[in-house]
Amino acid sequence: MLKTVNPTGTAAWKSLQSHFEQMKDVTIKSLFDADKQRNEKFSLTFNDQILVDFSKNRITQDTLDKLQTLAKECGLSAAIKSMFSGEKINRTEDRAVLHVALRNLSNSPIYVDGQNVMDDVNAVLDKMESFSKRVINGEWKGYTGKAITDVVNIGIGGSDLGPFMVTEALRPYKNHLTMHFVSNIDGTQMAETLKKVNPATTLFLVASKTFTTQETMTNAQSARDWLLKAAQDKSAVAKHFVALSTNTKEVAKFGIDTANMFEFWDWVGGRYSLWSAIGLSIVLSIGFDNFKQLLAGAHDIDNHFSQTPLEQNIPVILALINLWYNNFFDAQTEAILPYDQYMHRFPAYFQQGNMESNGKYVDRDGNKVDYSTGPIIWGEPGTNGQHAFYQLIHQGTKLIPCDFIAPAISHNPLGDHHEKLLSNFFAQTEALAFGKTRADVEKEFLAAGKSLDEVQEIVPFKVFEGNKPTNSLLLKAITPYTLGALIAIYEHKIFTQGVIWNIFSFDQWGVELGKQLAGNILPELQTELAIASHDSSTNGLINRYKSWR
Ligand code: F6P
Repeated sequence: MLKTVNPTGTAAWKSLQSHFEQMKDVTIKSLFDADKQRNEKFSLTFNDQILVDFSKNRITQDTLDKLQTLAKECGLSAAIKSMFSGEKINRTEDRAVLHVALRNLSNSPIYVDGQNVMDDVNAVLDKMESFSKRVINGEWKGYTGKAITDVVNIGIGGSDLGPFMVTEALRPYKNHLTMHFVSNIDGTQMAETLKKVNPATTLFLVASKTFTTQETMTNAQSARDWLLKAAQDKSAVAKHFVALSTNTKEVAKFGIDTANMFEFWDWVGGRYSLWSAIGLSIVLSIGFDNFKQLLAGAHDIDNHFSQTPLEQNIPVILALINLWYNNFFDAQTEAILPYDQYMHRFPAYFQQGNMESNGKYVDRDGNKVDYSTGPIIWGEPGTNGQHAFYQLIHQGTKLIPCDFIAPAISHNPLGDHHEKLLSNFFAQTEALAFGKTRADVEKEFLAAGKSLDEVQEIVPFKVFEGNKPTNSLLLKAITPYTLGALIAIYEHKIFTQGVIWNIFSFDQWGVELGKQLAGNILPELQTELAIASHDSSTNGLINRYKSWR
């Protein structure tokens, strides 16, 4: 079981507090000036594929040492062992946390309740492989005997964001099948998708761990009605619907043949499920061999995370650095900024990954924490973000640690686009770290032939204070292998922080209340009666909606 340690009560935390007093005004520039080897000391390379440069941070070796001591005092190494060995560390749901088993390509046994889960994992992977081959090569036929051309994944949250993010990120590897993703309960998304596809050649993947999620079940029902309207024959459902779920009973109740069900298990968290049967859309899009490479990248990071000393451990270092800003500098948010258009859903994916995991105010003892936990995660691809919100990162009043991610090799070497993209990638972290002094601004004006008297008033607006922390993650290329590794780095970063914050990272009770209240409100919307059962605002909104609809 995970230790329950209040991190603020540790000796390391106290030591970090006094260290912060010494560090809070130290500039990144002065740290670089004082140490010409800073880059070598504060960067790590994974497998000659991913360079993680964390030198442009407000840290010294002493900071990292103290943070690592904090991780040790909070029992991080034991927690990693607990997760990898299948202990039920998700205590509020009494479940193991084993997304690492889904990509355990070395196939070493992992036991849950005395059973080696690898047998089931491998059986489902085999089933995904043979099914996907039949769909891709056209052997799997729709109700008119035609091959499948379009795949619609119906799911939400972890049953949508992961597969969608990965299929987009790995578009260069995709085959002829056209992928669609429908998540929102807003009928617009389903209606617009159905306009693009033909019932005779469309395969629906109903992706839901619980198979009870309102959005997914409503969308699946509408898709089924649409198919049956065209096919006029119930047996068409078996040819056009498969289920990705843990819930055999509900799958059968919905009318999907359980032979067309790809199973996973309660020890797979929804936001950690793209490696499971939930990844079937990925397999259909890029083929099983590429999916296996994705698993291989993640598995190699799992080995790195579980076997490398904390001092050299990439996910741990990234976790500790952001914890330093979160808890000592009071940073509220973190930006993830991929300089790769294919990676455009990566920030949204880890918005769920991080915020649903570590957005918790109750510690593992059930007490309210008195320190800050999970950050707000946001971001957009570069360079678009530069022309939108970077102003605030450079010159606003908030400290926003940023992760910059880019591939060295582009899948689309179009003219000099990639050099231009990467020149921005390198320039931004340089500008954020080192800024531009008043003297520099004045020098520029003088060089442009202006007198300082003339420009005095404008000078302050052109000064960049700098000292804005960033990590740079430079990948050789975005491949299934490196993407798998990158995702796993972020997953383990979240785990590490959750262990130190003494919270449960693998439940999500915070999403329940809204669902419950929507369940109460729905029948009220299905009558014409005026509603008076809520507060005056909610009553007013519902009644206005009814008068306008
Ligand atoms: O409501 C949140 C959530 O439970 C997520 O954790 C999950 O990824 C999503 O809903 C979808 O759940 P399911 O896969 O069971 O439909």
